[in-house]
Amino acid sequence: MNSFTLNNLFSLLFLLSFSTLTVFSHFFSPPDNYLVNCGSTVPNTLLDYRSFSGDLSSKQSLSFSSSPNSLFINNQNPLPNLPQIYHTARVFTKPTKYSFNVKDKGTHLVRFHFHAFNSSNIDLGRAQFHILVNGYVVLSNFTRFIADSERNPKVVEYLIWVDSEKVVIVFVPSKDSKLAFVNAIEVISAPKDLVPETAQYLSSGDLKSFHGLNKQGLEVVYRVTVGGPKVTPFNDSLWRTWVPDDEYLKSFVGSEKLYFGGRIKYHGGGSSREVGPDNVYNTARLIRSKNDSVPNVNMTWVFPIAGGYKYLVRLHFCDIASISLGLLYFNVYVNGYLAFEDFDLSSISDSLASPFYADFVVDGGSSLGALSVSVGPSKSSIPHVIDGMLNGIEVMKLNNTHKSLDGDVCADFVLKSRSRGNTGILLTFAAAVCIVLSLSIVIRRRIIESRESVSWSRLPMNLSEDNVKS
Ligand SMILES: *[C@@H]1O[C@H](CO)[C@@H](O)[C@H](O)[C@H]1NC(C)=O
Ligand SMILES: *[C@@H]1O[C@H](CO)[C@@H](O)[C@H](O)[C@H]1NC(C)=O
Ligand SMILES: *[C@@H]1O[C@H](CO)[C@@H](O)[C@H](O)[C@H]1NC(C)=O
Ligand SMILES: *[C@@H]1O[C@H](CO)[C@@H](O)[C@H](O)[C@H]1NC(C)=O
Ligand SMILES: *[C@@H]1O[C@H](CO)[C@@H](O)[C@H](O)[C@H]1NC(C)=O
Ligand SMILES: *[C@@H]1O[C@H](CO)[C@@H](O)[C@H](O)[C@H]1NC(C)=O
Repeated sequence: MNSFTLNNLFSLLFLLSFSTLTVFSHFFSPPDNYLVNCGSTVPNTLLDYRSFSGDLSSKQSLSFSSSPNSLFINNQNPLPNLPQIYHTARVFTKPTKYSFNVKDKGTHLVRFHFHAFNSSNIDLGRAQFHILVNGYVVLSNFTRFIADSERNPKVVEYLIWVDSEKVVIVFVPSKDSKLAFVNAIEVISAPKDLVPETAQYLSSGDLKSFHGLNKQGLEVVYRVTVGGPKVTPFNDSLWRTWVPDDEYLKSFVGSEKLYFGGRIKYHGGGSSREVGPDNVYNTARLIRSKNDSVPNVNMTWVFPIAGGYKYLVRLHFCDIASISLGLLYFNVYVNGYLAFEDFDLSSISDSLASPFYADFVVDGGSSLGALSVSVGPSKSSIPHVIDGMLNGIEVMKLNNTHKSLDGDVCADFVLKSRSRGNTGILLTFAAAVCIVLSLSIVIRRRIIESRESVSWSRLPMNLSEDNVKS
């Protein structure tokens, strides 16, 4: 046994001892679990106790290094404490494709890690690019300035429904910069219950059903734990990060934070540990009535959003504060609309500390705007007890009609604008092209096929499962 495997063994033992000491062990084991450290020759690099495989580490089978479109670079002066996966990057000067075989169809989590740095003669702060995932435009004209990166590597996350054999990710450098990069990629099967088929659609005050939620491309815009400290990937069943709510809490007169040391009782019909971890449900903010009158206040959170999209607002509740069932009643408003009236968590579960979540789809308005969530006492609220509570908020953007999460340009157009010379004229027709394309599936398929052969043929790049996981 060489020292490398010994090291691995030690980190494994360390991990195991942690998981048994705490209740946050990762029970979920995803059928597809690709963790790629891009541009790295190191076989395994740990991040959040997970092992990322270097995409240059396995023998000759990876044709990537010989591809003229892709370079790999090293950060010669990484900041101290910067995790290892951000010390290398894969750099693309032409549209380039990563392809992952899928064992298990359904929703997949796709994460990209970006940390721009200067290396020899490449300045990643100059890169500007688009990213496509299975035909969705997830990022367009994306840039990371080195100054931003020094504060934080950026991680973006998408939930993409996959009903094909592969997840195909295409990096497309913009015409001006001719440069794209990525430090790490995660492609992970999501638990089946993470994105349900239906949500409630809240518009002009009416509650309707929104069907096909799981078939939308979703971008995680905010993931917030209410009343508690940041929850890191180590303490989350799906390696997510939940940030504290303080920055978004706009009105909180009369509210208080609460931490609960007991056990969170997950139950069928409520939330699962994969939907929200213990560390999110064991903290909350609440409204408490201290005398004979129910306070007439709201707690309100406000989230800046880009207009032109629908948003999924997922609210997490867990009554960790009441002294008995049947005492807590409150109203919940999303974007000023009444989402729950006289909401009573004990009608959903017959025990306290049972987590529950609710999904609402709302329209994000037409221009830059904000999305609000308010919780406050209702007409059934009782004095001298808890009269409102919230444990977590997630805000996710839905793809628009162009199958884009970032702008009004569809994937076909992003690819086409690269393979032709005159962007100026083409851009004028961008919207028209996209609309025509989405009008007819038949026409659309033909166009995609013919374009694929043009734009992608000279960019073969397949990361087979063995290569990535080895
Ligand atoms: C990176 O290099 C470019 C020139 O190649 C320079 O203009 C820029 O200031 C450098 N940025 C940092 C943060 O060192
Ligand atoms: C990138 O930005 C340019 C200039 O602002 C814009 O015309 C173009 O449509 C954008 N491209 C994409 C793919 O969004
Ligand atoms: C995980 O959660 C526990 C309990 O809340 C906390 O003490 C610990 O610092 C967390 N670990 C990490 C790596 O965030
Ligand atoms: C109850 O307390 C609040 C402040 O916490 C105060 O504004 C209100 O007047 C009190 N009500 C009664 C009936 O004492
Ligand atoms: C709480 O917020 C809702 C929705 O914005 C609003 O209708 C209600 O009047 C607010 N209540 C208080 C006491 O501010
Ligand atoms: C998102 O894209 C799908 C196609 O995959 C489309 O059916 C759906 O209508 C789009 N969503 C919205 C809100 O436009």
